[in-house]
Amino acid sequence: MQIDVKIGRIGSEVDSTVIIGLFKEERLEENDAAALESALHRYLRDVLALGDFKGEDQEVAVLYPLGQAPPGRVILVGLGSRGEFSLETARRASGIAVKRALKLGVFELSIVVHGPGGVGFELRECAQATVEGLLLGAYRYDAFKTGDTDRSGLESVAVVTPLRAQAYEIRDGIEAGMISAEGTILARDLSNAPGNAMTPRKLAAAARKMAGQTGLKCRVLTRKDIEKERMGALLAVNAGSEEPPRFIVLEHGEASDGVDTLVFIGKGITFDSGGISIKSSGGMEEMKHDMSGAAAVIGAMQSIAMSKPPLHVLGLVPATENLPDGRALKPGDIIATRSGKTIEVINTDAEGRLVLADALEFAEQYSPAAVIDLATLTGACVVALGYAATGMMGNDDGLQDRVRTAGEAAGERVWPLPLWQDYHDQIKSHIADVKNTGGRWAGALTAGAFLSKFTERPWVHLDIAGTAYTDASKPYCPKGATGVGVRLLLQLVKDWKS
Ligand code: BES
Ligand code: MN
Ligand code: ZN
Repeated sequence: MQIDVKIGRIGSEVDSTVIIGLFKEERLEENDAAALESALHRYLRDVLALGDFKGEDQEVAVLYPLGQAPPGRVILVGLGSRGEFSLETARRASGIAVKRALKLGVFELSIVVHGPGGVGFELRECAQATVEGLLLGAYRYDAFKTGDTDRSGLESVAVVTPLRAQAYEIRDGIEAGMISAEGTILARDLSNAPGNAMTPRKLAAAARKMAGQTGLKCRVLTRKDIEKERMGALLAVNAGSEEPPRFIVLEHGEASDGVDTLVFIGKGITFDSGGISIKSSGGMEEMKHDMSGAAAVIGAMQSIAMSKPPLHVLGLVPATENLPDGRALKPGDIIATRSGKTIEVINTDAEGRLVLADALEFAEQYSPAAVIDLATLTGACVVALGYAATGMMGNDDGLQDRVRTAGEAAGERVWPLPLWQDYHDQIKSHIADVKNTGGRWAGALTAGAFLSKFTERPWVHLDIAGTAYTDASKPYCPKGATGVGVRLLLQLVKDWKS
């Protein structure tokens, strides 16, 4: 995939395909005249005068100028009203347009950056969002499709501007967009892979391969190492599985004075059957996505390695399957985490919080300025927020604000949920330090309250059960894994001041 800036007027090339975003009910103005090849400008002015294309958000139309202007095809995409424009508008518009192009068998495109000029966003950010939408909208997961040779993807894109002075900023935005989209695509690929192709060992191998390519440090703890670390909760969840567990440590930069350490933890259950508290079979196949938190952390670490922020960042992934067998963890069992805290296991299907407990305790050794965990943790979070937002809990208002702001900017919305004493009361055990479920009500929050007991640092928990994968195709994401979390973490790191 090649994306370059091109200086000139868009539509100057014969037989090309161009994508042009237009605001609602706006005529082609003077600045558009400078940006568009002149015959194309006249042609579009006449077409728009017909009034069929309104520029509504997500509206799309394909035009064929046929001799009246050079391009073979023009894909118009609506940006909605100028006042409501956001970077998310730009991502969606690009995604919708690129999907249409690929459907037409077009793999080379020219595009103008969506939005800049009086919408309150910088050219660089608009270019980044435009590119993110293109790359993510073009994403397909076809690793397991055979004999489908016509399913090629995007090959080259020219981002066209008439102003040489803008080229540098646009190039910067393209670079940032490619880095964040590629991290997101890695996360999608890892999460979309079926359970038999993405075991803990294979997940660790993928992390190691990525680290080798990007220059990150990578340490993979095997079962022996995990036993030495006394990660009793990870081992307990793994007990029913033939596949050995892994604990992945990815590291960017190093600890030093004046540089904050951030730790990202991703739930890495490569398949969640529920264990002995087995799930019902309807939809169980979706539980291959139960390592989406891990996928987000690995994808984000790739993007972070490529953007080289002056920070110390760790990505931790406790990885195992959750399966039932004769050796499996049982309801009623009491287990101990790395620090020795005891947990009464009421339900073996509440396994994510168990492996995260060990990982949260492991993170303490780095004295991080922030710990953020991402996990497809509870169905209850989906009941609360649907697919519209990631649920956020934590112990530090300042950190929650930063995460929320980063999510908003990245187009990955999070919404705060409380961790009141009531939820802590629900997970009191009469026989151990804590129990792993809190009854029927407030399931996302009792899970959050449980996690809070295993960290002393500023910490945020992101429950991505509703946002990690989608059943319906979205403007820049087909059915399947979304890669949620990658762009949020990357944004947070970029905005972080030590
Ligand atoms: N991985 C699931 C949560 C989940 C459910 C993610 C639906 C995505 C969609 C998690 O391990 C789980 O099974 N949670 C239980 C907890 C319960 C037993 C307290 C749940 O949500 O039902
Ligand atoms: Mn479960
Ligand atoms: Zn799970």
